[in-house]
Amino acid sequence: MTEPERRAALEAIAAEVRACTNCRLHATRTRSVPGEGDPETEVVFVGEGPGFNEDRLGRPFVGRAGDLLVKLLAHVGWRREDVFITNVVKCRPPDNRDPQPDEIAACAPFLRRQLEALDPAVVVTLGRFSMATFMPGARISQAHGTVRRVDPATGAADALAFAMYHPAAALRTPAIERDSYADIAAVPAVLLDARRHREPTEAGPAISSEPEPAAPPEPETRLALPSAADETAPQLTLF
Ligand code: URA
Repeated sequence: MTEPERRAALEAIAAEVRACTNCRLHATRTRSVPGEGDPETEVVFVGEGPGFNEDRLGRPFVGRAGDLLVKLLAHVGWRREDVFITNVVKCRPPDNRDPQPDEIAACAPFLRRQLEALDPAVVVTLGRFSMATFMPGARISQAHGTVRRVDPATGAADALAFAMYHPAAALRTPAIERDSYADIAAVPAVLLDARRHREPTEAGPAISSEPEPAAPPEPETRLALPSAADETAPQLTLF
C-alpha cells in the first residue's frame, strides 16, 4: 500500500467509526475516538477505550493516562506522533467501566482494518483488554514486558505483540509505573527484532506466522535505551 492509500484507508475507517451505531456505546458518547498517528509508523499502541477527555476531544490518550504515555514514549526518544495510537473500543464506556465482550466484538473489525492498513511491525498492548486481543490467555502480571508473535487474523499480518500495563494502572501504583518504564525501554529492541523477522529471505519470510509462546526479550537488550552513545540508536529511529 502506498502512503496516500494507507492514509485514505485510515480516514475511511475513521469516518465509519464516527458514524458507527453498532453497539450501545454510541448512545452515550460525545465523540467516537478512531485513533491517530503516523500512517507510515512501524509501531501501534492499542489501549482499552476512550475516557472522559478522549470522549470530549475525539482523540486517544489525551488525559492523565495520555500524559504518562507521552512520558513513556519520550523515555525511548519517541513522540506520540511517531507512532499510531488507538483503542480496542472506540467509544467511551459510561463511567469508565470495563468494555463488555459484545462491545469489544462490535468494534473489533475497525481495529482489524486499521492494522491491515498500517501493517505494523510491533503492536504494543496497553492493559489487559488490549492484551487479550493479541495474547489470548495471558495474565498481565506475568505477560507485561514480554513479546509474542501476533496472529495475522488480528489484521497485523507480520508483527510482534509487546504487552504493557495500562498507563492508568501505572498512575495508581508506583511499582507498576516503574515496571512500565522498564517495559517500554525494551520496545526499541523488539522493533529491531521484528524488522529482522520481516526482512524477506530467498527462502521466504524469516519466520512462520505460527503463534509463538510469550518470551521476554534477552536480558541484555531488555533495558537497552537509544542514546547518543548507543551505536544502534540510529537504527532505532522510527523513520
Ligand atoms: N485509556 C485508554 O485506554 N484509551 C484512551 O484513549 C485513553 C485512556
